[in-house]
Amino acid sequence: MGVKALGYVVIATARMNEWDRYLTEVVGVMRAGGEPDGVALYRLDDRPFRFWIEPGTSDELLAAAYEIGDSASWAELKDRIVAAGRPVEDGGADEARARGVNAFFRTTDPAGNGLEFFHGDTRDDVPFVSPAGVSAFVTGDMGMGHAVLCTPNFLECYNFYKDVVGFGDTDLPRFYFSDDPQDPGMGFAFMHADNGRHHSIAIAEMPVPSSRCVHLMLEMGTMTDVGLCHDRMRKAKVPESATLGRHVNDQTFGFYMQTPAGFDLEIGCDPLVIDYKTWVPTAHLTPSEWGHVWSWQRAAEEQQEKAGQ
Ligand SMILES: [Fe+2]
Repeated sequence: MGVKALGYVVIATARMNEWDRYLTEVVGVMRAGGEPDGVALYRLDDRPFRFWIEPGTSDELLAAAYEIGDSASWAELKDRIVAAGRPVEDGGADEARARGVNAFFRTTDPAGNGLEFFHGDTRDDVPFVSPAGVSAFVTGDMGMGHAVLCTPNFLECYNFYKDVVGFGDTDLPRFYFSDDPQDPGMGFAFMHADNGRHHSIAIAEMPVPSSRCVHLMLEMGTMTDVGLCHDRMRKAKVPESATLGRHVNDQTFGFYMQTPAGFDLEIGCDPLVIDYKTWVPTAHLTPSEWGHVWSWQRAAEEQQEKAGQ
């Protein structure tokens, strides 16, 4: 048995208030109760939390936490990760209770990105109600969404996620972001867990930034949900990282905006849902069918326009 889904994320921040405003007022997630000292928890659905935000001196993704289907598979995974030479630290019983799981351990991938793996999940009886009126976040069997991490040692990390952890290949492209024939391009691996979400993790061949993440993705129920979130972003003056667009590989419609940690949050809907058992991996040439104009592309265009004046 492989990885079930992305369960939750752990984020450290020196800007607790900014994250609170961002998550509740712009994204539209719900504050959760039962928070351990100093930590703020936020819900997307009936899971006790999906965002664990803890005070720190840095702003970074501490861990993307993935659920493993049962305790035996979880123990086998831990053995494989130890055998692969990665550091493993068991979470304490109190920590596991606070995370709403039976047990978990912490580790890192070969680029140093933080991961947690857990088994035994829980559900809250208090209904989820979005404070911003989001009709629903699409989770269920497909989990919280996806995480995209930076891996300068791309092949080593790809092998770790595939052979050690047990994610499956969905799309293995090399993207070129310029017309320069000398552009070496950038390796990407979009990988699925044992569910219909096109990818629950993706890795990109780029240096690890201080925020330790490229982006997290949340799926909303409808296109109107995505559009209204885009409006809230604009009104709250949150920087837009990429305009509305549709991806080629997972066909998700949506946009990207900056989080208080500096990495992006992709808000999308209407994705391709795959049959992971029969999926034949693809290798697409471009990330987007239309749209998704990145802020750095707009800045370069503006500069060119100025130079031409
Ligand atoms: Fe994404």
